[in-house]
Amino acid sequence: MPLDQNQLKQAAAEAAIAYIPDDAIVGVGTGSTANYFIDALAKIKGRISGAVSSSEASVARLKSHGIAVFDLNSIDRLPVYVDGADEINRQLQMIKGGGAALTREKIVAAVAEQFICIADETKLVDVLGRFPLPVEVIPMARSHVARELVRLGGHPAYREGVVTDNGNIILDVHGLQIAEPAKFESELNQIVGVVTCGVFARRRADVLLLGTQAGVKTFK
Ligand code: 5RP
Repeated sequence: MPLDQNQLKQAAAEAAIAYIPDDAIVGVGTGSTANYFIDALAKIKGRISGAVSSSEASVARLKSHGIAVFDLNSIDRLPVYVDGADEINRQLQMIKGGGAALTREKIVAAVAEQFICIADETKLVDVLGRFPLPVEVIPMARSHVARELVRLGGHPAYREGVVTDNGNIILDVHGLQIAEPAKFESELNQIVGVVTCGVFARRRADVLLLGTQAGVKTFK
């Protein structure tokens, strides 16, 4: 019987444990795949020092397992960050932010020496953009940023009822085909009022662990 999507996410998440050094503080992402990783991390919590988290939701899950959570400002180095993605291409560039945690995810990823992306096989794409691109925006800049996104060829939609951990709003941009992700990421970062865009290309993943029907495949 074929594995379902959640089983593929769990397999990828469990494979990431092999990348966790002893005594490390581990960077932990957000979302359902990251939740499987947190649950796997709980089983080896005796051999790590603790975690740095990219969201309040993951902080709560880590603490529920008795894993110590550190402030990113209080640590010197972060050997590894493990997180999911909404889309990832073969260059290991991603769209992230489906769970609205993109800003903290990008910050933790920037500090990490190694970014391990864990995903099921539905997330692998040739061209980024079918998944609506999340953009975190300062609330008073919402209309301005939306107009600029339309100028760049997108169709932004306000994510109703969502306030990020940083007190901001999310615009989800539909209708994109992102041919040059690093260039597009830089362009979006220039729009006044954008806090973070969900293109992760300038700091892409170093390793992709992809849960497939044929087992977990590793891309570097
Ligand atoms: C949250 C994210 C997640 O990594 C992304 O949405 C994937 O989520 P899931 O593992 O639930 O499919 O970027 O902001």
